[in-house]
Amino acid sequence: MKTQVCIIGGGPSGLLLAQLLHRRGIASVVLERKTKDYVLGRIRAGVLEQGLVRLMEEAGCADRLHREGFVHDGTLVAYGDEMFRVDFSRHTGTPVIVYGQTEVTRDLYAAREASGGVIEYEVEDVEILGADTDAPQVSYTVGGERRRIFPQFIAGCDGFHGVSRQAIPLSVRREYEKIYPFGWLGVLSETPPVNHELIYANSPRGFALCSMRNENLSRYYIQCSLSDSPSDWTDAAFWQELKRRLPSTVAQALVTGPSIEKSIAPLRSFVTEPMRWGRLFLCGDAAHIVPPTGAKGLNTAASDVHYLYTALRQFYETGSEAGLDSYSADALARVWKVSRFSWWFSSLLHRYPDQSEFDHKVQLAELEFLRTNDAAQAAMAENYVGLPY
Ligand code: APR
Ligand code: PHB
Repeated sequence: MKTQVCIIGGGPSGLLLAQLLHRRGIASVVLERKTKDYVLGRIRAGVLEQGLVRLMEEAGCADRLHREGFVHDGTLVAYGDEMFRVDFSRHTGTPVIVYGQTEVTRDLYAAREASGGVIEYEVEDVEILGADTDAPQVSYTVGGERRRIFPQFIAGCDGFHGVSRQAIPLSVRREYEKIYPFGWLGVLSETPPVNHELIYANSPRGFALCSMRNENLSRYYIQCSLSDSPSDWTDAAFWQELKRRLPSTVAQALVTGPSIEKSIAPLRSFVTEPMRWGRLFLCGDAAHIVPPTGAKGLNTAASDVHYLYTALRQFYETGSEAGLDSYSADALARVWKVSRFSWWFSSLLHRYPDQSEFDHKVQLAELEFLRTNDAAQAAMAENYVGLPY
């Protein structure tokens, strides 16, 4: 089989890239290790930057998100009983849209299916050969049969545990990592959100976040120990702990109910360099992970997709390789800025096991500075709504 671009991974990065390319007449094959239902069963953050919204529009997949997504012009930050609002629209002229990543992925699958694009599900043993030559190959097994494709380019969109990053030799690859000494326990419940905007809370008992999916579906998180497991937390214990970490007015307004999902995610920052090796281009979680504070995972995947899509379009429309040549540097420049913001926002809001009294006082001073300083709020707003591509 001959194809122009082989996309390894059918998560949001791979599907968005496939759909954007398709709209420009560039053919691709998507190889996904799991089933569609499995991919759609993952629950991830749900805050979309304008850049991602624009890409979804360009991919022809934004109708439902405009209909059902919630436009948020700001967010609340709480510490103790203090709470203040950072106004995104006033500082940047741009809101964010709250719409679940699962729904983004569902819309992209629907578009891929409607356009007749190929997605091979349940592929195993994907192998990349000759990525640094002019004749790269991808082989894989599906339904017990070994297949081989000969694409012009390979997009490694296969997430943190994929094979694409590993195909770049260690002599070329450099990895940077920071493990945070805590996790997030998340609960989804069919209850009305406690507030119409998100609340990020720093409390002496640790971080808490009030988020949402729709009018009757709330998403809450609390910082937990890495050794906790979801079964250690009854619903009652979760709600009690969440309330203790929120300002009392918010805690009193909180509507609780049975959880319909409960899971723990560790927090990690990770970046691999370079993001290109020959004809292989890494995109999204395959190249970087950010802690969830600020919801940058999907949005940063989208900025990679933007750079790669633009570069491939330029190549197919004009023959120029300039965009392909600058892909890694362009994508990484933004990835590092987002990594900094996610690290900063995490550092501002969490309780660290080794935090000294001094560290704690500095953290409170930083919250106080952010509460009272317009320029600090403007900087936060600019990062939160998404740095320009
Ligand atoms: N072969 C084929 N597919 C693979 C392989 C492989 N060897 N390894 C992994 N995959 C698939 C996974 O099953 C998954 O569906 O690649 C996909 C990668 O999807 P994600 O992990 O969701 O990564 P990405 O598409 O880059 O999405 C960006 O933003 O909010 C964050 O981490 C969150 O998933 C999110 C990400
Ligand atoms: C979520 O709704 O899951 C969410 C929102 C904001 C974040 C992280 C997660 O910063």
